[in-house]
Amino acid sequence: MTDESFVSFGEQGAQLTYGSYLRLPQLLDSQHLESDPPAHDELLFITIHQVYELWFKQLLHEVTAARDAMLGGVDGGRLWWAQHLLARVHVIERTLIQQVDVLETMTPQDFLEFRQQLAPASGFQSVQFRELEFMSGAKDSSYLQRFKGITELERQHLDARLAEPTLWDAFLHVLDSSGFATGSDEEVTASLRTVAHDRDQHAVVWALAEALLQHDELAASWRARHVVMVERMIGAKSGTGGSSGATYLRSRLPVQYYPLLWELRSAL
Ligand code: HEM
Repeated sequence: MTDESFVSFGEQGAQLTYGSYLRLPQLLDSQHLESDPPAHDELLFITIHQVYELWFKQLLHEVTAARDAMLGGVDGGRLWWAQHLLARVHVIERTLIQQVDVLETMTPQDFLEFRQQLAPASGFQSVQFRELEFMSGAKDSSYLQRFKGITELERQHLDARLAEPTLWDAFLHVLDSSGFATGSDEEVTASLRTVAHDRDQHAVVWALAEALLQHDELAASWRARHVVMVERMIGAKSGTGGSSGATYLRSRLPVQYYPLLWELRSAL
């Protein structure tokens, strides 16, 4: 082998390394246990939440771009891109649901070794999770009052999301730009029925409606998976965030991002 054979593609500048590109020193120094002496399972608990937050960041990136592509309407020519990104969103969401299995390898008694140190921190305070809900269509400004201890920057992010068009607003624009009436719920339902019954003409609009419904269904699956895991971990105890725990979480199971897409099923 000659020396040249060691010079591979892209190595000429030799500035970047795997670790520096991925900021591994910072990333791998971000798991700090609260328990002392260290509880064995706390690293898993921190890691899984951090992984979720990274995926939430990616989901916000994809959902924002999918929304913008739909806001271009039919004439914008980017509806294929929205479809492509929403398909990716679904795969990430399935990953998020499956990941709960990893955390369930922790037993309730091992969790109790460090649980008391966590209050009042809670997944309830996940700003990115709430941003995703807002972007998807479930805007509820009362969460801003209920959030305690979030930073000014996080509050600004939430305010901005409340003011932005949602995926549903963008989908209505797609319908509108395809010549359909969207002035009232009744008009939207009538338009959706036409789309559903004439897929030869409206294949892309129908595909986007189905992609949104899939996103909604996967969010519901996550909520259902999370609450069952919570019951397994803490039973009927209240949450570290101060809610009634599983009772609060069960009250959120009926949330639907796109009720008109669900009602359409009955109207077909
Ligand atoms: C041992 C594991 C877990 C337990 C016992 C647990 C428990 C709870 C409880 C009781 C709540 C209600 C709010 C409260 O009073 O604290 C909650 C909310 C929440 N948790 Fe978890 N959780 C666990 C793991 C996770 C993980 C891994 C995530 C991933 C990010 C997560 C995300 C959330 C979110 C986003 C909420 C707010 C849900 C909503 O408002 O609908 N949780 N959790």
